Amino acid sequence: MDILKLAAENSPRSKMIYHEDTQALHIGTLDKHCYFVPFAKGQDPFEGRKNSQRMELLNGNWGFRYYDSIIDLEDDFIHEKFENTIPVPSNWQLYGYDKPQYTNVCYPIPFDPPFVPDDIPVGVYQREYDYSPDGMDRVLVFEGVDSCVYLYVNDSFVGYSQVSHATAEFNITPYLAEGRNIITAAVLKWCDGTYLEDQDKIRLSGIFRDVYVLSRPKMRLENYIVKTILGENGSARLEFTVFGCDVFAKLCDDDGVTMAQFSAYDGESVEIKLENVKLWSAETPYLYRLTINAGDEVIGEEVGFRDVKVDKGVVKINGRAVKFKGVNRHDSYPDTGYYASYEQMRADLVLMKKHNINAVRTSHYPNSPMFYQLCDRLGLYVIDEADLESHGCVEVYYDYKWDYSDYNGIAMLASDERFGNAIKDRAECLVKRDINRPCVVFWSLGNESGYGKNMLDEAELIKRLDDTRLVHYESTHCLDGTSDSVLDVVSGMYWDLNGMKGYLEKPEENRPLVQCEYCHAMGNGPGDLEDYHNVFYSNERFCGGFVWEWCDHSVPLGKTAEGKIKYGYGGDFGERHNDGNFCMDGLVYPDRTPHTGLLEVKQVYRPVRVTKGKSEGNFVFSSTLEFVNAGDILDCRYEITDKNGIIHIGRVDFDIEPMGSTVVNVPNDTAEYENETFIRFIFTAKEDTDYCENGYEVCFDQLRIAEGKACKVAEVKENVEAVETPLDITVTVGDVVYRFDKRKSAFVSVKFGGRELLDRPLQYNFFRAPTDNDVMKCNWYKVHLNDFDVKSYGCELSAGENRAEISVTQSFGWSIQQPFCRLKAVYVIDGSGLDIKCEAEFSNKIDMIPRFGIRLFMPKDYSRAEYFGYGPTESYIDKRQACYMGRFAADIGDMHEDYIRPQENSSHYGCRYLTVSSEDTSVMFTAGEEFSFNASQFTQEELAAKAHNYELERCESNVICVDYAMAGVGSNSCGPRLAEKYQLEKPLINAHFHIQISKI
Ligand code: GAL
Ligand code: MG
Repeated sequence: MDILKLAAENSPRSKMIYHEDTQALHIGTLDKHCYFVPFAKGQDPFEGRKNSQRMELLNGNWGFRYYDSIIDLEDDFIHEKFENTIPVPSNWQLYGYDKPQYTNVCYPIPFDPPFVPDDIPVGVYQREYDYSPDGMDRVLVFEGVDSCVYLYVNDSFVGYSQVSHATAEFNITPYLAEGRNIITAAVLKWCDGTYLEDQDKIRLSGIFRDVYVLSRPKMRLENYIVKTILGENGSARLEFTVFGCDVFAKLCDDDGVTMAQFSAYDGESVEIKLENVKLWSAETPYLYRLTINAGDEVIGEEVGFRDVKVDKGVVKINGRAVKFKGVNRHDSYPDTGYYASYEQMRADLVLMKKHNINAVRTSHYPNSPMFYQLCDRLGLYVIDEADLESHGCVEVYYDYKWDYSDYNGIAMLASDERFGNAIKDRAECLVKRDINRPCVVFWSLGNESGYGKNMLDEAELIKRLDDTRLVHYESTHCLDGTSDSVLDVVSGMYWDLNGMKGYLEKPEENRPLVQCEYCHAMGNGPGDLEDYHNVFYSNERFCGGFVWEWCDHSVPLGKTAEGKIKYGYGGDFGERHNDGNFCMDGLVYPDRTPHTGLLEVKQVYRPVRVTKGKSEGNFVFSSTLEFVNAGDILDCRYEITDKNGIIHIGRVDFDIEPMGSTVVNVPNDTAEYENETFIRFIFTAKEDTDYCENGYEVCFDQLRIAEGKACKVAEVKENVEAVETPLDITVTVGDVVYRFDKRKSAFVSVKFGGRELLDRPLQYNFFRAPTDNDVMKCNWYKVHLNDFDVKSYGCELSAGENRAEISVTQSFGWSIQQPFCRLKAVYVIDGSGLDIKCEAEFSNKIDMIPRFGIRLFMPKDYSRAEYFGYGPTESYIDKRQACYMGRFAADIGDMHEDYIRPQENSSHYGCRYLTVSSEDTSVMFTAGEEFSFNASQFTQEELAAKAHNYELERCESNVICVDYAMAGVGSNSCGPRLAEKYQLEKPLINAHFHIQISKI
């Protein structure tokens, strides 16, 4: 429907003519320029911008009118009554208007560019603004509006702007009258820009970043560019170019000592030579202060001296090869939606630094300008990405027979002429705004938009605007044959390890490789961080990677009666199309509580690693710090432990050149240890920093220094009495009575001192509540690993004076297919307990076996678990870097990792024993030399059945799963299939379990 035809001539509504025009991007806006907030002369321009007398923040409650459709908008909507209010910044879907939609790839609207649906939802914002003329202009700044804004002041139309994550500035002075004025911003949910903003996120709308007015002199500094060029032996040059007016500038170090003072003239560059310059890096975020005096304005700019280059296929910062230990971050908060306040951003970045992360990719759009200042100060490298993604084109390009094998359709808009200008515009918004930020090391053309002529033009534009950074883009998939050789680095997503190794063997490729996304952190995972780490460090041409992604995205649905937040995800909002919980793929929960995956990241990204030295007592400390001596920032202590706990502690002094290694001697290590013994080196921060306090644990490393003997169960001679009937066998040993049911082929009762230990029969267990990475779960359900019948082929008892032995053969199956497992077991009961030896043979119908073990439902008063194994947090064969071998104890109620979509959790790998105890009785489990276990109040069936954590119901028993083995978790939700070495072997498994019951 043509909105123009609807609207009365010259009415406010009649001005809405740009949102379906791919060539009308910014109307009535100021030219793009670097981000800065001017202060009044005499003010300290390095104080937070809120303190500037020239800035008036318009955040707060604005009048608000919501329309389901632009068609319902009144011609003169700006004069309607604004009885409701909404906070600015925010997203209107969080305030009861419209509803959130989570869609990943698919467009939320029919693909019909440049058109969008007739019924575009509209939010009209209005507020008063007082003006007293003082000779200065008033510039109204929006730092982010999704998806576009029509701006009116009083009765006049001021302008239009799109690109949700870009700054839009309007000089509103000509429209202002002395006294009270009315600002009205009509925000549309969709515009032609929507086709370029198909990022994987919960789709929200509105004015979602700060809005403010700057008072600026008529003759003013419009833009400036600070470039740093490094020379030899600590010398460097500062190139400073200004536009708009002449300025006088002063450069100081961070102690306030003046390094240089100089003038710069409008349109010209000055070059300042400096000696003994301290360089900026993520490890040494040293910033100089440039004070720019421009007329009666003063501007504070923080300057970091650093350079970024590719040298023989290697990314170098300040001349040194670097690795990005990175993470992808979206602006996404459960309470504020897309709005990220300074405090929220700082908290995110501090948490990253505390977890040894050194780089962020601003997936998939520019963040708030203050985000980059924080990265400069805290020390994080940034891939700064343009607000661009047209992923949904894959669903558009091919006919109905399309099978996902050819993904090139994603590049439709990359070679669509209509979008050429809009794509370049997005690069211009990015580069011109952030050009002075030292943290930005790569510009990224966008995400998942395929490659083509428009992308080449975009890359060339970026290179014209800035020749000091590298241009990045994941450029796979192209329809028009355009070469991507303009890109400085090759970028991959979720490449498997072989793909990475193969990359080095391509003779035609000499560029560095970054994995802009890897280790999909959805749910319980990722399990492959360490393996990637080893490949990254195998060759300098790999410059590291960025884990996908930082946070779970959610819009809360309210609270439970107990006050627990009900985190919602795709499908919870009544959407037309949704992608379920694929937005729950972060390293932190929505409220920023770390997932165990983040602990894993912290440990894999650790600055120091320890290995055994050549001679006894010696250990090699190797550093992955590129600029700093690890010994200058870290203290080290150690603990020597065995199954009884800590037996020695000590400290070591050390010193390691960047990327170097050093040998450290620990005298306690040479002692003879009877038990299996481990040494754990713990590295802590030496001093308070901007992001952590002195003593903060940065990382650790644990090594086994004595093998010792395996945990053996002591033999106990006692009289055994066995009674067999046609249906069961009862065996009594001292205080313990076991009853084996032949029909069920299982122990149905174990009584100790007359009290029952089993609430349900002892079971074999093959299933786990599928994790998000268990994409093969359909196979498990088809085979019925989760729910099966047992067939018993025979049961034999042979009893002696001190032992009874029951041998069984059985199978496990459901309808339709052959039994999925055939099992032979021998149960030996004697004074030391119940011993189970079994051989399980799995059918060819199973893809991957999630686990094999036994499961016990024990009475609730068996509530305490103690183990010697990998803890204290959950650990898996491929996800245990953050854990260490130790003796841990916990209440079973606390052994649950509360994933928002419930799934397998809280297993412990590498265990040597487990005891589960009540007040007076202890049950000890062992299984082979090492095993995994879970102790939980929730059954795997319950975890698998429920879609949200707040729906979970506790089992009436405590559920103990003792596993011969538990499969790894991997990152297959988006990444490669679980590596074979982390799978259970097939088809034959020989397992051994032992259960011993004793009085405490
Ligand atoms: C990537 C994409 C991300 C996200 C991820 C899956 O392909 O770039 O935006 O969708 O997959 O979680
Ligand atoms: Mg995508």
